[in-house]
Amino acid sequence: MTSVLVVGAAGQVGRALCALGGSRGIETVGRTRADLDITDLGQVREVLAAHPFAAVVNAAAYTAVDKAESDEAAAYAINRDGPHNLAIAAAEQDIPLLHISTDYVFDGARSGAYRETDPVRPTGVYGASKFAGEEAVRATHRHHIILRTSWVYGPSTGNFVATMLRLAADRPELRVVADQRGGPTTAAAIAQALLTMILQLDRGESWGTYHFSGAPATTWHGFAQEIIARAAPRLRQIPVVIPIGTADYPTPARRPANSELDCTKIERQFGIRQPDWRTTLDDIVETLQTNPQGSKI
Ligand SMILES: NC(=O)c1ccc[n+]([C@@H]2O[C@H](COP(=O)([O-])OP(=O)(O)OC[C@H]3O[C@@H](n4cnc5c(N)ncnc54)[C@H](OP(=O)(O)O)[C@@H]3O)[C@@H](O)[C@H]2O)c1
Repeated sequence: MTSVLVVGAAGQVGRALCALGGSRGIETVGRTRADLDITDLGQVREVLAAHPFAAVVNAAAYTAVDKAESDEAAAYAINRDGPHNLAIAAAEQDIPLLHISTDYVFDGARSGAYRETDPVRPTGVYGASKFAGEEAVRATHRHHIILRTSWVYGPSTGNFVATMLRLAADRPELRVVADQRGGPTTAAAIAQALLTMILQLDRGESWGTYHFSGAPATTWHGFAQEIIARAAPRLRQIPVVIPIGTADYPTPARRPANSELDCTKIERQFGIRQPDWRTTLDDIVETLQTNPQGSKI
């Protein structure tokens, strides 16, 4: 069985990878931050040298977008130096590295969907540190895949869906930003896309950068409306979802107004299609409403 190392295994995508690998014939060996700190090159080298992994997936990251503005050193250590260390050790062992990046490398000024070749211009520390990580991977290890994704959520706490449901429990209205557009993407869909790519890695020159997100693109307000509509049968009172502007909800980090990702390249190369996030939202909302601590993936 193909054996794949997953670092950042306690995160949303890391957990989904570890839960779904077996169903695709891939053994996933998960390492959480406590087992393997990617900022420590010695540790990374040791783990990668210990077993002939078929691939390494980096699901570890510093993902607190606002906190990163005042915690730049930690964001760069995890989002730039961590992937750099993985790329160094993976190149030494000749193991392909799959690294996850973000739509927040773009400034949002484009009117249509962003292609992989579009120029990046991050608007905050998180996006800049993630782009620095991409560049470190590209410069260090030829056999890499960088998968940029967006608006990640799943049936666990600490994401937009869980936050909306928590607020919906006791607020008559939810004021949600309606002028930022992107593609909601489940952690499970990202995991499945990565597993599909791993199974096709030996088919030739597919290395490089790919975009992958759920469709259709929407705004945070549109997404919140869909979440509340699905939650409604189990809510005591149904909150009104009120559209507001970014200017009405100031945050430390500036976010792109549009970060829709064009996902034609990944479909052409790997046959991976954009999942319609609306089809799985019912299940995720129900899981979170019946178990607010979330499920394993
Ligand atoms: N979340 C989003 O909306 C979003 C959007 C676009 C792209 N992405 C990208 O998608 C990927 C997965 O995101 P996610 O939502 O699954 O993230 P997540 O749930 O925040 O998980 C990240 C994991 O990385 C771990 N980690 C942090 N520092 C580490 C270190 N030094 N060594 C090892 N592990 C470390 C964290 O552990 P601790 O909890 O112990 O710190 C956490 O378990 C990331 O590359 C992220 O940048 C996310």
